[in-house]
Amino acid sequence: MLKDVGDESEVRIDSGFLELDRVLGGGIVTGSVVLLGGDPGIGKSTLLLQLLIRMQSRQRMVYVTGEESLQQVRMRAQRLGEKDAALGVVAETEVESILALLEQEPPALLVIDSIQTLYTRELSSAPGSVAQLRECCALLVRFAKQRNVAIFLVGHVTKEGVIAGPRVLEHMVDTVLYFEADPGGRLRMIRAAKNRFGAVNEIGFFAMADSGLKEVRNPSALFLARDAEPAAGSVVLVTREGSRSVLVEVQALVDRGGSSPRRVAVGLEANRLAMLLAVLHRHAQIGLLDQDVFINVVGGLQVRETAADLATVLAAVSSFRDRALPGGLAVFGELGLSGELRPVSGGEERIAEAAKQGFSRIIVPQSNKPRKSPAKTDVLAVRSLSEALDAAF
Ligand code: TYD
Ligand code: MG
Repeated sequence: MLKDVGDESEVRIDSGFLELDRVLGGGIVTGSVVLLGGDPGIGKSTLLLQLLIRMQSRQRMVYVTGEESLQQVRMRAQRLGEKDAALGVVAETEVESILALLEQEPPALLVIDSIQTLYTRELSSAPGSVAQLRECCALLVRFAKQRNVAIFLVGHVTKEGVIAGPRVLEHMVDTVLYFEADPGGRLRMIRAAKNRFGAVNEIGFFAMADSGLKEVRNPSALFLARDAEPAAGSVVLVTREGSRSVLVEVQALVDRGGSSPRRVAVGLEANRLAMLLAVLHRHAQIGLLDQDVFINVVGGLQVRETAADLATVLAAVSSFRDRALPGGLAVFGELGLSGELRPVSGGEERIAEAAKQGFSRIIVPQSNKPRKSPAKTDVLAVRSLSEALDAAF
């Protein structure tokens, strides 16, 4: 009977990485299956090897490599400064053999690198085919649940990713994490696309260094060019990523366009940009309709919230007028169709983060005005777009 089923809450183990634990919802749930997807070369193997090395002193860990030889894994561990880690490493790709090997003494955590290299002898199709991916995944999920083994499955996202990649496994696992990078940069972000054991809006920030991934505890510092002179078209936005406020620079380039002006938004929603330009025209009499408008969020972050509206508009106007906004300014707020500035969630936390990062003036929607401003910080609460423009310029 249902009432007789124990209501045991999930047991979690620290991964040794606060940034990863945050995304998982507070650590790795025992017996859960996590799919870690991402482009080849982004750092999936590096992260998981670091994690096993950190955790292996506490519990039994096993790393199954189907992509690299044992020597290559050892070389990587060496690069991470840990070649002598007492870590179980197995080079094997037949799922039945892997499970047979672990049957006697199941580890607390098993890493499969990657699911695309595994095959089951029950099927004749090639490793990496949809049938093989599904069947291998199903066998591993069953093992995880029966033996209470947490499993991380590495899945490369390929160009054909939607069909042959890890996407076909998303519904079979408990948690799906995606590893993203800023193009050409060292920043790495882990985001949950699905999580049976936590929220999906948290991001873990890492930087790829010469000896592995380092956690980034203060992402704001990473996104902002510290000693840069104020430049036209640049505005600092206070955005929220899950439970944390992050400062990012929004840049705009506005230039006379051709017969059909272009609107390009990188890191922001393009449709929203078109709407904001219309609001700017109607409610502030600033017409950019014949101009090309390019907007970019520096550092590769995808900002999906309307709290970016004010920063977007101010950056565009600043570029259009070729006038830099004063230094030390940060902003947030949603813009309504009647030119009103609407409140956003987490106002107090955003203001606190901007103050902590040394910003002395913060433009916020009137309804986000705090009862008390942080020390040495001027909080300018505005009701409308035109008030915001007056406060900023
Ligand atoms: P890797 O973990 O092999 O990526 P994936 O498993 O997702 O395919 O990461 C490989 C890249 O990371 C490679 O370009 C080298 C770089 N790297 C570093 O910059 N520092 C390091 O300490 C390590 C181990 C790798
Ligand atoms: Mg790899």
